[in-house]
Amino acid sequence: MDFAIEQLPAADIDELGPLWQQLLAHHSQQAPHLEELAPVRSPESSWQLRRELYLQWLSSPDTAALTARGPHGLLGYAMVRVVADRPGSWQWGAEPGDRVGVLETLVVHDDARGAGVGQALLDAARHHLDRHGLKIMKISVIAGNEGALRFYRREGAVDFVQTLVMPLSPPP
Ligand SMILES: CC(C)(COP(=O)(O)OP(=O)(O)OC[C@H]1O[C@@H](n2cnc3c(N)ncnc32)[C@H](O)[C@@H]1OP(=O)(O)O)[C@@H](O)C(=O)NCCC(=O)NCCS
Repeated sequence: MDFAIEQLPAADIDELGPLWQQLLAHHSQQAPHLEELAPVRSPESSWQLRRELYLQWLSSPDTAALTARGPHGLLGYAMVRVVADRPGSWQWGAEPGDRVGVLETLVVHDDARGAGVGQALLDAARHHLDRHGLKIMKISVIAGNEGALRFYRREGAVDFVQTLVMPLSPPP
């Protein structure tokens, strides 16, 4: 597949909206159990919220919106940023201040999956963080997204925390 990896300027943020909405659809399909706790946002409101966060993150020079651009438009993107993280147990980075990378989003267009685009975006995200002197990248995966887990594990990712959500009133 023919594509180039580029860094997207914040001014072009709206190019990411349709792919974000595909990711939202993918998540709600992979994790129907979560709809027993809360409804899924509409694609429009989900993108507006995410757009705001992206712009906030992109105001830091450490954040990168990495895109895979094909001849007919975007095939996927990765949003990666750097955060301070000093848990008492593991030393993720060099002293004095531990910092880690966070892969906030990785999505490949429905019609372009399984052709190496995700791999190229992941490599670009790792390269970006490596240039910032980081050693670790955190990734959150929605429970049920087994394909994504397989993809990350093949690249050396291992299990870290398991996040649960529960209703405040217990089931009868
Ligand atoms: C996960 C994802 C980013 C991988 O990108 P990709 O371009 O399809 O991946 P590559 O072609 O580089 O590698 C293929 C691997 O991706 C994984 N994969 C996950 N979902 C897939 C899908 N729908 N179609 C094909 N491969 C998929 C598989 O592990 C596959 O490896 P396999 O051949 O051993 O099964 C992409 O499939 C995607 O956007 N999925 C939906 C959104 C998502 O789950 N994002 C991750 C959120 S944490």
